[in-house]
Amino acid sequence: MATTRKTSPTIITIFGGSGDLTWRKLAPALYNLFLDNWLNEHLCIVCTGRSEMSNPAFIKRLKEGVDKFSRRGKTKKAEWDQFSKSIEYQQADFTQAKMYNGLKKQIAAFEKKAGEKANKIFYLAVPPAFFEPIAKRIGEAGLAEDREFSRLVIEKPFGSDLDSARNLNNSLLTIFEENQLYRIDHYLGKETVQNILAFRFANALFEPIWNRNYIDHVQITVAEKIGVEDRGNYYEHSGVLRDMIQNHLMQLLCLIAMEPPVSFNADEVRNRKVDVLHAIRKLKKEDVHNFAVRGQYDAGWMEGKKVKGYRHEKDVAADSPVETFAAIKFFIDNWRWNNVPFYVRSGKRMPDAISVITIEFKPVPHQSFPDEAIENWQPNRMILNIQPDMGIRIRFQAKKPGLQMQLNPVDMLFNYSDAYSSTGTPEAYETLLLDVIEGDATLFMRADQVEAAWQIVMPILETWKGNHSVNFPNYAAGTQGPETSEALIARDGNNWIVMPLEKNGHE
Ligand code: BG6
Repeated sequence: MATTRKTSPTIITIFGGSGDLTWRKLAPALYNLFLDNWLNEHLCIVCTGRSEMSNPAFIKRLKEGVDKFSRRGKTKKAEWDQFSKSIEYQQADFTQAKMYNGLKKQIAAFEKKAGEKANKIFYLAVPPAFFEPIAKRIGEAGLAEDREFSRLVIEKPFGSDLDSARNLNNSLLTIFEENQLYRIDHYLGKETVQNILAFRFANALFEPIWNRNYIDHVQITVAEKIGVEDRGNYYEHSGVLRDMIQNHLMQLLCLIAMEPPVSFNADEVRNRKVDVLHAIRKLKKEDVHNFAVRGQYDAGWMEGKKVKGYRHEKDVAADSPVETFAAIKFFIDNWRWNNVPFYVRSGKRMPDAISVITIEFKPVPHQSFPDEAIENWQPNRMILNIQPDMGIRIRFQAKKPGLQMQLNPVDMLFNYSDAYSSTGTPEAYETLLLDVIEGDATLFMRADQVEAAWQIVMPILETWKGNHSVNFPNYAAGTQGPETSEALIARDGNNWIVMPLEKNGHE
C-alpha cells in the first residue's frame, strides 16, 4: 500500500476480549492492520475477560476467528506468530480496582520500553451496563489523564433512550474529554458509506441538482436476511428502531442530506451532520401513525427452508411486542430539502440482505415527446448500493434503436468489484480502529449527535411503547415487511425500489 504510515506505539485494552466481537471483528481487523504495516512495532493487545483461559489457548481461539473472518482468508504461520506475540489474555473482574492498578503499571512499563508516549486505547466490547463502571475505574486509576493519547472506544448501543444516552454522556464527560471518546457506529467505517462523502463532495456534477428543485424523494433501505439469531435477550429490549434506525440509518441519511463541509476536520464534518439531525422534523405523538409503521416477522420460507417466527426465537417472549421491521417517513426542514420525503426502512428476515440508497429525481419540466414515445418512461434514479455489492447505478432514458422514437430506461453502472479487488478493501473495523489509533474522530459519534438522533426517534418509541395493540406478527419471514410499509410510501404515489447491482436488475 502506497500510503501506509506508521502509527505511534500502541497499547489496546479490550474489555470483553474473549467475546464475539473480538473474535469476529476486532482481531481480524487488527491483524489486517498489522499485515498492511500500519501498526507500530511497539504494540500490545491486552484482552481481558471473565473466563479462565491460558494465553496459548486464547491465542489459538483468536486465530480460528481470524482464519474464518479475515478478508484475507487463512493466516500464514510466520505472520501470525509475529502478530500474536503482541497479544495477551488477562482473566479479570473489571468491576474491581485491582486490575486497573495492574494495567497502569503495565502501561507505564510499555511506554518506558517504547521510549515515548503511547496511544492508550480502552475498548469497551462489553454489555452497556458495564460502560460506566469500567470508565469510572479507568478514571480512578488515573488512566484517562493523558488527554492526547488516552482514548475510550464505546460500542453501541449508546443509551436506550434520550435520557439514558444523556446520563451516559454526562457521566463519561466527568472522566474523559469529548475528544477522547470514540462512540462507534460501524456503518460509518464501511467503504461505500465513506464513498458517499467522496461521491458528493469530490464531484461537481451532482451537487447542483442535489436539492428540492430536482430530487423528488430519497429512500434508504437496510434489509437483513438473518433473524434475531441468538441475541433474543438483547433484542427484546431493543427492536429495530433502537438497533438500526436511531444509529445506522440516521447516519446514512445525514451523509446524503448534509451540507458540504469546509474541510474534513472531525468537528467540521460532524457539525454538518448534526445540522441535519436538528433540521429533521420532530413528530408529534398523535402524528406518529401517519409517518411510521412497524412489523414483526412470523414463520416463513427463506431459500426453500422453513424458518421460525420472532416469537419462537430463543429468549423471546411468546407475546413479544418488539418490532423487527420499521419504515418511517422523515422531512428535513431546511432550504435544501423542504418537502422532500426521506423514506427509511429496515427489517430482519427480509428476502435479500441489501443496503441501498435510492435518489429519485423529478420528471422533466415539460415533456416534448408524444405519448407513444414515453410509454416506458421512468424517473431518473441514482442508486447507491452499500452492500453486499458496492456500486452506483444511474438510470436515465435513451432512445430505443429503431425507426420510431421510443424511449426506454437504461442504466449506467459503476461496480466496485470491477474496478478494485475486493480483498484489498478494508473492513469497517479496520478503518475505525486505525482512526482511533491515529486520533481521528471524524467517523465517530459525538455526544450531541447521539442525543440529537435519540431526540428524533423518541416520539415513535414512546408512542409504540404505549400502544402494543398491533397485529403482530404481521409479515412472513422472506417477505418485504408488512403491507402497511407499502401503504406508507404508496400514499405519496411512490413505491419501494430495490434494484440489485447486476446488469439486468429489476425492481
Ligand atoms: C448491528 C445490529 O449494529 O448491525 C445488528 O445490532 C445488525 O442487529 C448489524 O444485524 C448489521 O450490520 P451489517 O454490517 O451486517 O450490515
